[in-house]
Amino acid sequence: MTAGKLSERVAFVTGGLRGIGLACAARLVADGAAVVVCDLDDPGAAAPVLGPLGTAVSYIRVDVTSETDWQAAHDFVLERHGALHILVNNAGTDLTGAVEAITLDDWRRIMAVNVDGVFLGTRIFTPLLAASGAEVTGGSSIINVSSIMGLVGMSEVSAYNTSKGAVRMFTKGIAMEFAAKKMPVRANSLHPGFVETPLLHAGFERWVAKGIAENAQALIDGMNAVTPMGRLGQADEIAGPVAFLAGPDSSFMTGAELVIDGGWTAQ
Ligand SMILES: NC(=O)c1ccc[n+]([C@@H]2O[C@H](COP(=O)([O-])OP(=O)(O)OC[C@H]3O[C@@H](n4cnc5c(N)ncnc54)[C@H](O)[C@@H]3O)[C@@H](O)[C@H]2O)c1
Repeated sequence: MTAGKLSERVAFVTGGLRGIGLACAARLVADGAAVVVCDLDDPGAAAPVLGPLGTAVSYIRVDVTSETDWQAAHDFVLERHGALHILVNNAGTDLTGAVEAITLDDWRRIMAVNVDGVFLGTRIFTPLLAASGAEVTGGSSIINVSSIMGLVGMSEVSAYNTSKGAVRMFTKGIAMEFAAKKMPVRANSLHPGFVETPLLHAGFERWVAKGIAENAQALIDGMNAVTPMGRLGQADEIAGPVAFLAGPDSSFMTGAELVIDGGWTAQ
């Protein structure tokens, strides 16, 4: 491990092969952590993506909706590092559409990834995070990636709103539990606004296909216009706050909501 604010710490990042998760993995490595990334891709596909981040990064294929996969992830981290100080529950998916058009299967799928995934990761890793937290200033840290859509409602976003609202409240619940039990584990939720990632672009393509906009650029222009800072966020701008929540500078923060949205929810 290299010197840095997060040296001597081990992190686990879900959904770390693209978008916000990849930026977080890169930033945690840059700050000195050893990082285990998981995602849905096979290791062969992950290698060229993570290779540039160097030897501090390793990869395991995990579907965050699977208890069996989470158990394997836990065993992998324990065997390789013997500790875990940072858990970034980032993997997520989206779903848009009028409420009457959402199928129960679609609803269950988004809850499985966005909510069950965060619960399962937290449950399996809490004992190791608690055991490792006493070793580091500020203790271990769970960072649950919610969204501004976990704070405010939006038309035709009800399923995603629900899943991200659940992440927000789950985070507060575990934060209270850990504090009450004097466990050296903090938990905070992160609320990004519109960030330019493959997920956002896939959403744009679906809206264009539905005829909601002529092209993706029209949607970007529309989002820029309603964002006080006048632009989309970049994944690196989410990774910095994640590193802050992961390390000693946020040692008195737990159960908090960190909003990174260019002012969108301040209006
Ligand atoms: N991009 C935004 O504007 C935005 C805004 C607010 C919150 N978020 C949240 O940030 C997180 C990351 O989003 P992103 O924009 O980087 O998305 P992305 O689609 O670019 O990346 C998400 C990653 O999660 C992985 N993933 C999906 N389902 C998984 C599963 N079941 N198991 C393991 N991995 C899985 C995907 O393969 C992908 O690599 C999500 O939770 C998302 O809801 C994104």
